[in-house]
Order: sequence, then C-alpha cells, then structure tokens
Amino acid sequence: MRAAIATSVILSSDRALVAEGDSLPLLRALPSGSVSLILTDPPYHATKKANIYGDTAFAQDRHYLEWLAQYAAQWRRILRPNGSLYCFCDSSMAGRLEVLLSETFNLLSHIVWTKPNDPGFDGWKGKMKKEALRQWYPHSERLLFAEPAVEGNLFRSSFAGMLRSAREGAGMSMHELTAKIGAHGRVNHGGAVSNWEDGRNTPSREQYEGMCKALIETGRVESMPRYEDAVRPFTVDASKEFTDVWTFPSVRPYKGKHPAEKPVALLRHAIEASTFPGDIVLDCFAGSGNTALAALKSKRRAVIMEIEHVWATRAATRVEAHYEVEALSRAEAGAEQPRWRASGLTPRQLSLFSAPK
Ligand SMILES: C[S@@+](CC[C@H](N)C(=O)[O-])C[C@H]1O[C@@H](n2cnc3c(N)ncnc32)[C@H](O)[C@@H]1O
Repeated sequence: MRAAIATSVILSSDRALVAEGDSLPLLRALPSGSVSLILTDPPYHATKKANIYGDTAFAQDRHYLEWLAQYAAQWRRILRPNGSLYCFCDSSMAGRLEVLLSETFNLLSHIVWTKPNDPGFDGWKGKMKKEALRQWYPHSERLLFAEPAVEGNLFRSSFAGMLRSAREGAGMSMHELTAKIGAHGRVNHGGAVSNWEDGRNTPSREQYEGMCKALIETGRVESMPRYEDAVRPFTVDASKEFTDVWTFPSVRPYKGKHPAEKPVALLRHAIEASTFPGDIVLDCFAGSGNTALAALKSKRRAVIMEIEHVWATRAATRVEAHYEVEALSRAEAGAEQPRWRASGLTPRQLSLFSAPK
C-alpha cells in the first residue's frame, strides 16, 4: 500500500507515515477500509487566509463544497466500517458541510470548540470595538463528528446490520439474546439488543463477547468478528469533556507556528475517545503535523499528508524529534521499546508502515 504513494513519502516508520503532495490523489491510492479515524482540518475557505494553501482558492462557495465532496467520497471509502470522522470547519460553512457529509455519513455530533485564551492571545477579540460588530463575535470553531452511514439511514450502522444478520442466522429473537446476556432495559424489554440493532448505541466489550458466545453456542453461527473490528469505539469518562462543547485554549504564538495549528490536547481528546490503541489515524490536511504527534503520544499510528513542502518537512522533523524524546526518556527509565499492537491490523494496513527495528 505504501508503494502506491511511494514517491510522495518523506517519512516512514513503524508507526507513522508522512506524505507530501496533493492529498486527493494520495487518498485515491489508499485501499478501502484501511483507516480507523480520519481527523482532519481542511482550509476553511470562509476565513480567506492568504497564508494557508487553498484558503483563497475557491471563487464560489459551491466550488469549495464540490472539492470537499470528492474528499468525503474518499473518506467514506478509506474508513473502516467501524471508523469515525472528525472534520474541522468554520461556523459559516458548517451547515452546508453537514448536508454534504450526510450523503454518506451519519452525523453524530456538531462539536463547538471554544477557546478560553489568555489575555493578549485572543486574536481580534481584544482589538475590535464591539460597536463595529455586524454579527455575534465568532468565538468558536466547529468539529463535525460522523460515522460511515449504511444505506443513507441515520439508524443503520455496519455493526447493527452485522448483529441483526448474525442473530437471525442463529434463529434467536432479540428478547432471547438480550436474556442470555442479562441486558434487559428497565423499560424496553427488547432491551439492549434492539437498541444496538437500531444503531442507537453500542455494547460494551463484555456485552459483545457475551452475545458472540450465545450466538456461536447455537451451532448456527460459525464465528463473530473481534470487538475491535465490529464496534465503533467511543470512550469517555467523567474525568474528560463529554459534551459537544469543548474548551481548549488555542496554540499560543511561537516561532514556526502553523497559522491554523490545532492544540495537541484537543486532538488527543478526539483520538482517545474514538480509536483503540494501535489504530491508524489519518489527517490529509496535516499542516504542523500535530495530528501525528497527538496520535503517537496516545499510542496510535498516524498517516498524514500535506501539500506545502515547508509544512510537510516540518511535520516530518517534528515526528522524528518526538521519537528522539521518547527514546531518551525510555533510556533514562531503562525501559524497552514498547510493542505496538499489530494484532487485528491486516497486512494491507500494516504495509503502510516500515517494519519495526
Ligand atoms: C487548516 S490547515 C491545517 C492545520 C493543522 N490542523 C495543524 O494543526 O497544523 C490546512 C492545511 O492543509 C494544507 N492543504 C491545503 N490543500 C491541500 C491539499 N490539496 N492536499 C494536502 N494538503 C493541503 C494546507 O497547506 C494547510 O497546511
């Protein structure tokens, strides 16, 4: 798979790949169903920043939307059926992007990212007269969160379809299967299984494994996929933001900062909620490369693409610097090179990366 984009690859390790070039043809060269999470930040078009490649490229909004529609088709194809998409955008384009994405994705959340910036680091807000405003001051950016849709129906996920056909194949009713794993709801006695088959929510690992055992015991179902291959991960706990309003300060200015650089803490928040360790995270508008750094810090793999030479090489350098820091702290702690989960990743997925040293 790496061979298909070989001439564009500027860094390849056992956990990360950095490619330089126009990401649309690069995405077209990636195989279907190979990536667990797409976390990406296209040029906003609405902000018209001359220092961001592509931000001023579209004379009309619809040209921008037509261009992104080509990306949406590739994202849908490349994502694993239990994968997730997070796409940053400006509030003024969010509605139209949601409509565009809803052709092939189930829109799960419209996240508002708000920034409690330190005084002096809040951009225009500190510099403008309130009286000069002609709309409410835009104090947030948006992050659209979606999963691949099945048959254009909000309540059909690939997991729901797989469970229904396995249960029907086993000749069990929803009630029977629910009873087997003791997951009756207090109100709904079709219980958890009917919610899962309707795509309303997903089972825990324990519940899923209980169902697999019950289905296989009927002798009519031969095998069931692993939890990691079936269920879309979504893990939050009380210590983390769990609402669709996220508060993370923006990246403070520093020499060499990307004009649209997103905070690593925010990126890790999305990655850790929506992937399993070892999974592949893709960003096709990489800029500074922070998505790759966030993925690596969270023990996930990263594939990033960037068209501008200066940013692509800087991102690669930052990934290499991260490895050096990691190796140094391992050496200080006398720890061994951590083993990266390869189980469950297909040879096709692993072929994106080089062999571990
Ligand atoms: C909004 S910025 C992303 C910033 C990034 N999230 C960060 O944290 O640094 C969009 C990036 O996409 C890049 N870009 C624009 N068009 C592209 C294309 N066709 N292929 C690959 N990268 C592209 C731009 O050069 C820019 O660095």
